Amino acid sequence: MISNNAKSNLAIFASGSGSNAQKIIEYFDASLNAEIGLVVSNRAEALVLERAHKAQIDTQVFSNSQFKEGTEVIRLLQNLKIDYIILAGFLLKIPIALIRNFPRKIINIHPALLPKYGGKGMYGKHVHQAVFDHFEVESGITIHYVNEAYDEGQIIFQKSVTLELLDTPDIIATKVLALEHHHYPRVIDNLLTLSN
Ligand code: GRF
Repeated sequence: MISNNAKSNLAIFASGSGSNAQKIIEYFDASLNAEIGLVVSNRAEALVLERAHKAQIDTQVFSNSQFKEGTEVIRLLQNLKIDYIILAGFLLKIPIALIRNFPRKIINIHPALLPKYGGKGMYGKHVHQAVFDHFEVESGITIHYVNEAYDEGQIIFQKSVTLELLDTPDIIATKVLALEHHHYPRVIDNLLTLSN
């Protein structure tokens, strides 16, 4: 479907390595649907900022308390006319003020099949360790809207992967990350197409 509307302007929020951010940046590089207007982090040393600089994307670091309070973050996003916020390994809770200013415009990816293995403290390797500890025969990804409760917003997309008996938490993480890298940019793209 070809849209007549202008490109969507995306902000990516990330706290760490930003391998998902990288895939999203590459995917939308030549897109008519969206561009990455900003990469935001709460950690000045996060590798994701380097990735953004290499791609000539503006970056902004806010402190944890600035995120919690929200006003400056919201002001910047509004000034830059950001349409969607894409969370890609962003570890802080999104404040209610930000959610209210961007209703159904904040999207997250979780490295498990929600509602299993979600909630506070369930991030990164903690998720894969829990999946391993429970002898799960599958894991996967969940892409969802962000609401006031951790990992409880409406689910947009899920994809599972089969786990083998000998899969360690590291192997589970690798399998799940491959799904994230493939699907996250494409699901965002579809979402933008449908809402334009
Ligand atoms: C991913 O597993 C993502 O699902 C989770 O945090 C991890 C971020 O990895 N929310 P990266 O920084 O994109 O490499």
